[in-house]
Amino acid sequence: MAQEQTAPRGPDLTKGVAFEDFAGGKLAGHVGDEEVLLVRSGAEVFAIGAHCSHYHGPLAEGIVLGESVRCPWHHACFDLRTGEAVRAPALSPVACWNVEQRDGRVFVNGKRAQPKPRGRPAAADAPGKIVIVGGGAAGFAAAEMLRRRDYRGSIVMLSDDRAPPVDRPNLSKDYLAGSAPEDWLPLRPDEFYAQNNIELRLNTEVAGIDVKHRQVHLAGGASLTYDRLLLATGAEPVRLAIPGADLPHVHTLRSLADCRAIIEDAKGARRALVIGASFIGLEAAAALRTRDIEVHVVAPEARPMERALGPQFGDFIRKLHEEHGVVFHLGETVAAIEGARARLKGGAALDADLVVVGVGVRPRLVLAEQAGLKIDRGVMVDAFLQTSAPGVYAAGDIARWPDPHSGEAVRVEHWVVAERQGQIAAANMLGLNERFDAVPFFWSQHYDVPINYVGHAERWDEIAIDGSIEAKDCLVRYRRNGRVLAVASIFRDVASLDAELAMERGATP
Ligand SMILES: Cc1cc2nc3c(=O)[nH]c(=O)nc-3n(C[C@H](O)[C@H](O)[C@H](O)COP(=O)(O)OP(=O)(O)OC[C@H]3O[C@@H](n4cnc5c(N)ncnc54)[C@H](O)[C@@H]3O)c2cc1C
Ligand code: FES
Repeated sequence: MAQEQTAPRGPDLTKGVAFEDFAGGKLAGHVGDEEVLLVRSGAEVFAIGAHCSHYHGPLAEGIVLGESVRCPWHHACFDLRTGEAVRAPALSPVACWNVEQRDGRVFVNGKRAQPKPRGRPAAADAPGKIVIVGGGAAGFAAAEMLRRRDYRGSIVMLSDDRAPPVDRPNLSKDYLAGSAPEDWLPLRPDEFYAQNNIELRLNTEVAGIDVKHRQVHLAGGASLTYDRLLLATGAEPVRLAIPGADLPHVHTLRSLADCRAIIEDAKGARRALVIGASFIGLEAAAALRTRDIEVHVVAPEARPMERALGPQFGDFIRKLHEEHGVVFHLGETVAAIEGARARLKGGAALDADLVVVGVGVRPRLVLAEQAGLKIDRGVMVDAFLQTSAPGVYAAGDIARWPDPHSGEAVRVEHWVVAERQGQIAAANMLGLNERFDAVPFFWSQHYDVPINYVGHAERWDEIAIDGSIEAKDCLVRYRRNGRVLAVASIFRDVASLDAELAMERGATP
């Protein structure tokens, strides 16, 4: 997704606009070079930065709810009074300006010093030592939120990755395609951790957890004690058990190092083989096509992504990729990789100098299992994200939580969910008792087509399509027993936000 910088548009807000000019509640204008959004909420008018701090989404096209605005692209939410990013995936605030109303007109003058967030701060008796296992979406969002809530105690974040927390979704999209600069990737610059007194220990594997003595044991032999522990170990790619799966040109894609290794091999590659028509596999296929590499996809299913999005979406995704030159070998699997040749089960052979395996991920549960935490296809947590062990929380790809919207205990692998869970776990480690009740959300990007998905439907008995998937203008509802469990959309951003809101309120989207 491109972060576009455009010339300031709309009226010069320092000169004032008539109240009637924003009957719709929002008006985009500018102050000097900066784009500013005026938002009416009741009798008040707020002025905030016009673009989302995540990927620069146009907030003017989002929805306003009380004193907040939600981004149309990936559903971040900003507090209009403080600019705070109150919901991930945005983590940084947007700027706020002073607003003056006189003679039926609204004037924007100076930018305000960034106001303090409104969330409840940590109590004076907050625990002294918090340890976070995992330097990904959930772990990072938790550490950042702890400091945002004015937590003064110790935070140690342990990650067996060599890289500091990065924008993982970008690894199969713009960064892999070669269209994202390096500085888009870190969630925060290196100095952030020292400045915020977050002890980030990279390349550090946690080997065990002793919940009785509240200790974390590192692979190197050292131990750390904790008052509160967050497990956010994420997931790891499933590896193929076929001959040749460990050859150097055969890659999985999870970490920045994985992505860099693929990019390195892509430099001299003529043809790539993607094994698996998963979201990550197909996003990688699209990114490699951008690099002008021939791409073949081998997958056992009849249609890509059918299990997650249904047959109509599956056919669309296939056609979309074929229009961009991807060749599918569906109903097929790879039996062996012999050097630059892959042998398919059906007998055919495919030559490829680069292989990306995208056949799904498995949650990293070993630590939780060994610690004796309650497990059921994920680490079981309560509505406050606490595990079965007191003081131990879990968030992100490993956590199975009681989802109030579906009424089921669910575990998903979504970036936004992981971040929001990390944030809620942070609040709860400080004793703030906040429920995790966000409606699950994910997005996926294929060439210029974004797919947004709200809710959670593992099974459905009816798919209702509003608009046209082929025309890239649709809202698709997944129903079970007449109830809408999830909604997928293409270029129906407001409808997707409305669906999220309806689900939050227990209404039918
Ligand atoms: C290439 C790619 C693209 C994606 N695109 C999207 C997308 O477009 N939209 C979307 O919604 N989701 C997307 N996802 C999924 C999303 O990234 C995950 O859901 C999210 O990262 C989960 O966050 P997490 O914190 O649970 O785990 P992770 O982000 O994986 O972080 C886990 C961390 O734990 C560390 N760790 C694990 N075990 C140990 C141990 N024993 N000791 C020390 N450290 C340990 C790991 O090194 C890592 O730092 C994508 C994933 C990938 C790989
Ligand atoms: S651009 Fe706003 S949430 Fe991603």
